Amino acid sequence: MSGEHRVLLVISGGIAAYKSLELVRRLRERGVAVRAIMTRGAQAFVTPLAVGALTGGRVFTDLFDREDEQDVGHIRLAREADLVIVAPATADIMAKMAGGHADDLATAVLLATRSPVLVAPAMNPAMWAHPATQRNVAMLAEDGVHFIGPVPGEMAETGEAGLGRMAEPLDIVVAALHRLDAPSLPGGGRRLAGRRAVVTSGPTVEAVDPVRYLANRSSGKQGHAIAAALAAEGAAVTLVSGPVGIPDPPGVAVVHVESAREMLAAVEAALPADIAVMAAAVADWRPAKPARGKIKKDGSGKVEPLQLIENPDILATIGRHRTLRPALLVGFAAETSDLIRNARAKLKAKGADWILANDVSEGSGVMGGDDNTVSLISAAGVDAWPTMTKVEVAARLADRIAEALTEVVE
Ligand code: CTP
Repeated sequence: MSGEHRVLLVISGGIAAYKSLELVRRLRERGVAVRAIMTRGAQAFVTPLAVGALTGGRVFTDLFDREDEQDVGHIRLAREADLVIVAPATADIMAKMAGGHADDLATAVLLATRSPVLVAPAMNPAMWAHPATQRNVAMLAEDGVHFIGPVPGEMAETGEAGLGRMAEPLDIVVAALHRLDAPSLPGGGRRLAGRRAVVTSGPTVEAVDPVRYLANRSSGKQGHAIAAALAAEGAAVTLVSGPVGIPDPPGVAVVHVESAREMLAAVEAALPADIAVMAAAVADWRPAKPARGKIKKDGSGKVEPLQLIENPDILATIGRHRTLRPALLVGFAAETSDLIRNARAKLKAKGADWILANDVSEGSGVMGGDDNTVSLISAAGVDAWPTMTKVEVAARLADRIAEALTEVVE
């Protein structure tokens, strides 16, 4: 299928430009043909030579370069793409796009194209938050431009953190493939077309009073990536998510909830389904009697002890459903010790088919991080996966699910 889908990648000038090399590689692995345009700024971070080595063709840099214009020309570059990706997109290039500027090759092509445009912004959090940038983003979104990210995290500048990091290359690939309506995996197809899936993600929060709550640590990155990977395989996905700081994945129906009981109700409402993946970090307990008004300090230094009661176990409830249990039920086991033994016990106790066991002990970096090390535990045994990004874990899980469902259900 090489060359079937054509992406034109515009690389603008930011430190995240080095990540566009991986983006090219990941797109090409999936049979997508990539042409690249680099702005002058981008060339300060990565060389056209490096980008060209990965695209397998020449890299376009100049609007008024005779060779560039005679070779292909900016109008042809704009036309001969099924999707234009701008990654990284600086505040400056977005401002130019919003203003309709065309003073270099990248902006001229962006103005001339009729293809969908996917923008992956990357900049300092203050620049992203600036009203001018937000105004441009809103204007571009109104023009039909699609966005992925930015995501929260550490910035290249030491000590800086916040919203402004470019989305991970694999997440951009997933969004791009969704726009191109292409399969997400090499050799894979839309193998889950016609299947329904429910995925839980993020923490649940349990009210103590109107301002305070109990919650678990969870970024939602793993669950959201699983929802996106299943959707990219063609499944109709409902993602039931607790409060998270990351955007809704593209191509997925998202139900936002707060408490475990709301999450259970939303999951049950999304059934029947062929597949359920419970990746949420559900709070095991909730305050027995949340206060109606804010609990005040009375000056005595004493506090009323918090009475807790157990929350419903969503995975176990679904596992026991006589009629509505999905054909394939997958849970997680977050453990800080005795990983495999505890995970096996959860597989049995909760009536799941598979458990993805992960070590979340301090220092593992799993909670909130981008990487994950999991073992897939089933009746067949333990399959230890190497450390991968959460997006890769999701892609591998979607692959295994597609394989298993073809065997189990058909
Ligand atoms: N889970 C759930 N509902 C709960 C608690 C957990 O659906 N009330 C699901 C999680 O989404 C996960 C699996 O059960 O798929 C295991 O979650 P984990 O937190 O590892 O285990 P717990 O059941 O909470 O057990 P423990 O806290 O004793 O380790």
